Amino acid sequence: MNETALTSDLFTPYRLGSLTLENRLVMAPMTRTRAADDGTATPLMATYYAQRSTAGLIVAEASTPNAVGKTYPNTTGIHTDAHVAGWRQVVEAVKSAGGAPMFLQIQHGGRVGHPDNSGLTPVAPSPIPLPDTIHTPTGPKEAVVPREMTLEDIRTTIGDFAAAARRAIDAGFDGVEVHGANGYLLHQFLAPNTNRRTDDYGGSVAGRMRFVVEVVEAVAQAIGPDRVGLRISPGNTVNGIDGADADVLYPQLAGTLADHGLAYLHIVFADPGRPLFERIRTIWPGTLIANPTLPQDQIPADGGKNAAEKLLTAGADLIALGRPFLANPDLVERLRTGAPVNPVRDGLMYQGGPDGYIDYPALPALTAAGA
Ligand SMILES: Cc1cc2nc3c(=O)[nH]c(=O)nc-3n(C[C@H](O)[C@H](O)[C@H](O)COP(=O)(O)O)c2cc1C
Repeated sequence: MNETALTSDLFTPYRLGSLTLENRLVMAPMTRTRAADDGTATPLMATYYAQRSTAGLIVAEASTPNAVGKTYPNTTGIHTDAHVAGWRQVVEAVKSAGGAPMFLQIQHGGRVGHPDNSGLTPVAPSPIPLPDTIHTPTGPKEAVVPREMTLEDIRTTIGDFAAAARRAIDAGFDGVEVHGANGYLLHQFLAPNTNRRTDDYGGSVAGRMRFVVEVVEAVAQAIGPDRVGLRISPGNTVNGIDGADADVLYPQLAGTLADHGLAYLHIVFADPGRPLFERIRTIWPGTLIANPTLPQDQIPADGGKNAAEKLLTAGADLIALGRPFLANPDLVERLRTGAPVNPVRDGLMYQGGPDGYIDYPALPALTAAGA
């Protein structure tokens, strides 16, 4: 448990480096594909995030650090001046609404991308295509074989992550979260079935971890380690990942980064009873954010509160929730008071526009109070 934690209750403040979070609930990063075609955040997005500004911390959605890292249409970027200006209006809207601190997630898609989306052939640790289709402006298409990254590509990409982090700070974010989870580029380097490299960036656990460690170190050097988090998803097989040696790799990764003074480590699908979670908690000396494993078909009637409290008891410092925040702009108040939660409306996660985005109702009492 982090020494700076004031108490272990979900609704009490938490000190994250120089930031004070009003509660322990983190809005998990969620790609909502409401950006402009060039990846610039829109006024609609400012409204959506401002509605959720009572979270303890908001981790804003995956944003690409360069053109080739783009995953799907209308995802956000953080590599042009327009991206900075777009995100600035979002950050300012959240600040005016009462202001959760905000981190921006930086994500490179690697092989999870398509020339129809980025105009470029995707790059990856090895030329192994995603065994799936990718959503494009003209519908789902077979993934293409990615180009194997050269050492020069690796150096350039690390630099792009650092530059993106500087841009995020320029836009007003309090920090960035490096996306090492869910089968995107960093995860592709970590996993043995997507990384077949024979150079220093592949092979052994240390080799496969190297790119992630170098990205984190470059970003930390660019903006300060206390403004950098890392998201991981040990054992998650999404996007064709084989989590074969997760039990070895992730403790080693956590151990390698333990003395870097990072803002936090963030674990997806954390399970309090899983030995790997307990091991990482023991190894990781700083703030640990845990995203509980909730049912996939629909969020639970309690909005994830029980799962959140179990993880706090198991040693997590902060709890990330995704879909509960998506469907409940005033989630913190609902969980605090035990009020019923809105269910997620199907089919409206990625389709663009205001429906299923900014029209989830707040509790009447809060609406009346102007929240
Ligand atoms: C619509 C949607 C978009 C998501 N986009 C991202 C993303 O951009 N980055 C990321 O790391 N995870 C993303 N996720 C995963 C969530 O952050 C979270 O880990 C997942 O939804 C499980 O948490 P939950 O059960 O509380 O929803 C997304 C999930 C959803 C539902």
